[in-house]
Amino acid sequence: MSSDVAELPLRLDADRARVNAVLATLFDKRHAIAPRLEEAMAYGVLGNGKRLRPLLVYAAGRTVGAEDDDLDPAAAAIELIHAYSLVHDDLPAMDDDDLRRGQPTVHRAFDEASAILAGDALQTLAFELLADAAHPRLAAMVRTLAGASGRDGMAAGQALDLLSVGDRLDVEALANVHRHKTGALMRAALRLGGLTGVTETDPRLIALDDYGAAIGLAFQIQDDILDVVGDTQTLGKASGADAARDKPTYPSLLGLDGARAKTQSLLEQALDALVPLGDTATPLAEIACYMIERDY
Ligand code: IPE
Ligand code: IPE
Ligand code: MG
Ligand code: MG
Ligand code: MG
Repeated sequence: MSSDVAELPLRLDADRARVNAVLATLFDKRHAIAPRLEEAMAYGVLGNGKRLRPLLVYAAGRTVGAEDDDLDPAAAAIELIHAYSLVHDDLPAMDDDDLRRGQPTVHRAFDEASAILAGDALQTLAFELLADAAHPRLAAMVRTLAGASGRDGMAAGQALDLLSVGDRLDVEALANVHRHKTGALMRAALRLGGLTGVTETDPRLIALDDYGAAIGLAFQIQDDILDVVGDTQTLGKASGADAARDKPTYPSLLGLDGARAKTQSLLEQALDALVPLGDTATPLAEIACYMIERDY
């Protein structure tokens, strides 16, 4: 695969700016019925996120020839779902965190009820946005996003994660938690990008999904590693939080070296999955490396 890796930060920054602009318009010039709710929503989504899921939507969509303008709604929608998941993840009843993206968490900056409602409304706003775009494969897109978010996806993973506190899961059980709480939305991002350009039977969607399954798990393992080796300032969220809460993680099961080896083998799997897509998948290969080498 040929490409200038040095251009990657630039391309990622351009795509981040692109989705940030779409997200900002959602809160522009609106008559808010409940201004504090909207403030909490905007605070939860417009902060300093890496926008990885939107980056995956754009990169996957371009791989199959979709236009950037057509990818914007899916890119913003998946970030809205992700932001909602973070707002709820941080609540006292869940991970009970005070810092997110370098700022006080939504329930800290506002209050718990506002954070719960902001999460709810961010979630439904994602579907409104997709519906408004009225893409020819809207039904498949809604199915993808809903399936990845709910009882077969992120919410299921979060439930398993919370149930596992204090347990010593085996690696397969922990992989199952990670695949659902984090991997499901990553895979959905890739499928949404793919569906923007091609129909559900296109074999390229399978390659994208194989790639997504590998990087989705690798991404959460790297999150677990950074919780151990990262510092709060760089991460923008409290380091050491998993150990403090007795969460089973890859480093706690396999040690740091074992966890790192697992991210490397998943990275290789992800890159192998891209082979059928040829050179058009180079940006996805670069994003996979970035996701595993990142330090926040
Ligand atoms: C954090 O996700 C939650 C996990 C699924 C590990 P990100 O690391 O993508 O968070 P932001 O969006 O950049 O803040
Ligand atoms: C969160 O996993 C996954 C979500 C669905 C939000 P973590 O609980 O490890 O994410 P951080 O470390 O708080 O960002
Ligand atoms: Mg959590
Ligand atoms: Mg958390
Ligand atoms: Mg974490």
